[in-house]
Amino acid sequence: MSSTANGPAIEAAGLRKAFGDHVVLDGIDLQVPQGTIFSLLGPNGAGKTTTVHILSTLIGSDGGRVRVGGHDPATEPDGVRAAIGVTGQFSAVDGLLTGEENLLLMADLHHLGRRTGKQRAAGLLEQFDLVEAARKTAATYSGGMKRRLDLAMSLIGEPRIIFLDEPTTGLDPRSRRTMWQIIRDLVNRGVTIFLTTQYLDEADELANRIAVLDNGKIVAEGTPAELKGQIPGGHIALRFTDAHELAKAVRELGGQRDDEALTLQIPGDGGVKALRVLLDRLDAASIEVEELSVHTPDLDDVFLALTGTSKVPTS
Ligand SMILES: Nc1ncnc2c1ncn2[C@@H]1O[C@H](COP(=O)(O)OP(=O)(O)O)[C@@H](O)[C@H]1O
Ligand SMILES: [Mg+2]
Repeated sequence: MSSTANGPAIEAAGLRKAFGDHVVLDGIDLQVPQGTIFSLLGPNGAGKTTTVHILSTLIGSDGGRVRVGGHDPATEPDGVRAAIGVTGQFSAVDGLLTGEENLLLMADLHHLGRRTGKQRAAGLLEQFDLVEAARKTAATYSGGMKRRLDLAMSLIGEPRIIFLDEPTTGLDPRSRRTMWQIIRDLVNRGVTIFLTTQYLDEADELANRIAVLDNGKIVAEGTPAELKGQIPGGHIALRFTDAHELAKAVRELGGQRDDEALTLQIPGDGGVKALRVLLDRLDAASIEVEELSVHTPDLDDVFLALTGTSKVPTS
């Protein structure tokens, strides 16, 4: 990548794509500096996979300027492919092959030669905690193991830029954490990561910069802190058995009341300290609380704040 020694790893300007008359990308701009994690955040159907497919040469765009690793995916696909690894939303793992065989097959596709292929495969099995499972067919793997193998396969060519399309969707919390750590380790080695996700907490956890995709446009872009600064914070919700208790609580605490639902919302991040203070005040005023829940901002809040509409189906 000598031509891009200091340039951004990924650049798009005015990127457009429609399927028939359905406009999916309506002129989007992206800039991803080398060695950083960029997260494209958006609900189902927003166009995340379409973007990844265009940037990784799998499909063409209808317009706009794109550079990946200094190359144009449309006119220099080989240059792009040599620089990238892609882990798709749907696994490239062959269930009939063992983990090791899947990796060696990938090594073959990269023309690595037997020796190098074996070395890289062994290193990746080690790095992704798959040594014990290496000789078992991938069909027997757990969801988390399959994702790890999938990612390992995309790394066999030692790419400088990695596309991860919803790498943790459907994973249990523990596998999700493992995947996050793997992603951090990759970035620490200087790799650039383009990550798509439906989860605000994931983008918040990992990304240097986040872009929010909605209706074919980037509706917000910035660091996680900048983005969260634009959305309402979390709150603590209290529910009461009767209107009298609710009224007492409002006098004591303020907040936003709902007389029908007998609830009171109090701004706060749900930190342990704040909760303790709140409970102490309720106790001191002898106020009965039926139920308490902590609400942290999620993708739905982002969309409500940025676009005025809710995008995420209730889960
Ligand atoms: N090959 C295709 N033909 C027609 N429509 C498509 C095709 N691929 C994606 N779409 C549509 O484009 C929109 C964006 O899809 P996608 O990029 O997969 O979204 P996301 O990955 O954010 O869930 C969706 O409405 C989807 O139905
Ligand atoms: Mg997708």
